[in-house]
Amino acid sequence: MTAIARYDGVADYYASGWGEDLTDPVTVALFDVLGDVAGQRVLDVACGHGRISRGLAHKGATVVGVDLSAAMLAKAEERESNEPLGIRYLQSDAADPELLQGDEYDAAVCSMGLSDIDNLDGTLANIRRLLRPGGIFAFAMLHPCFPGIEGVSAAWPSDGTYYDERYWQADASLSTLRQQVGANHRTLSTYLNTLHHHGLTLTQTAEPQPRITPDSPRAPMAQYPVFFVASFANS
Ligand SMILES: C[S@@+](CC[C@H](N)C(=O)[O-])C[C@H]1O[C@@H](n2cnc3c(N)ncnc32)[C@H](O)[C@@H]1O
Repeated sequence: MTAIARYDGVADYYASGWGEDLTDPVTVALFDVLGDVAGQRVLDVACGHGRISRGLAHKGATVVGVDLSAAMLAKAEERESNEPLGIRYLQSDAADPELLQGDEYDAAVCSMGLSDIDNLDGTLANIRRLLRPGGIFAFAMLHPCFPGIEGVSAAWPSDGTYYDERYWQADASLSTLRQQVGANHRTLSTYLNTLHHHGLTLTQTAEPQPRITPDSPRAPMAQYPVFFVASFANS
């Protein structure tokens, strides 16, 4: 399976929309389930332009960021050369069996990247291999059960159902990123069973409500599960 770097064409768009402010509810929940990272070696899987990597480094972690997209990593590297935090970036498919052979990490994170990754099984196998025993894997993603609202696509294909697990591209007017890069829809059971299969044991979950003003066209989203955040320990 050859992974496709779908973010190469949207790096400017993504970086302008998802910046350095890490106070949004989903990122706060991600760092909360991850726990204290000071002094730890942390792998940022699907790090993109590095905003979470930088947040981890500011919290005292030694960070390696991995991403498939050269354009996203170029932004991360540019930022690192302007404001060095000691972050090492690597271009790779997160599922490449050769990824970071011989390394060991205290923790791994994946912020809003699991549904972008085509090979979930290979990626979780790598995370398991790279985590020390007891190490934590924390992730945040669009909730697989998000049903969508007018103008915002559901987590699952608009011509299918929750049970249709496949790559698809959103079509609703406000789903501007997923119109361009699409996503791999998987049921919640698939995520949880694949994590379990790779020896990762649930430690904490959160379903943070998005920060939406009442007059926003996205306001109805506040009624539904929008984000799923969880941490798992390497057994
Ligand atoms: C929504 S962005 C998230 C970026 C970053 N984690 C953040 O929170 O801003 C998803 C990222 O997943 C990356 N990605 C997709 N497939 C990947 C793969 N197979 N291996 C590594 N990274 C991948 C994309 O290039 C993109 O940078």
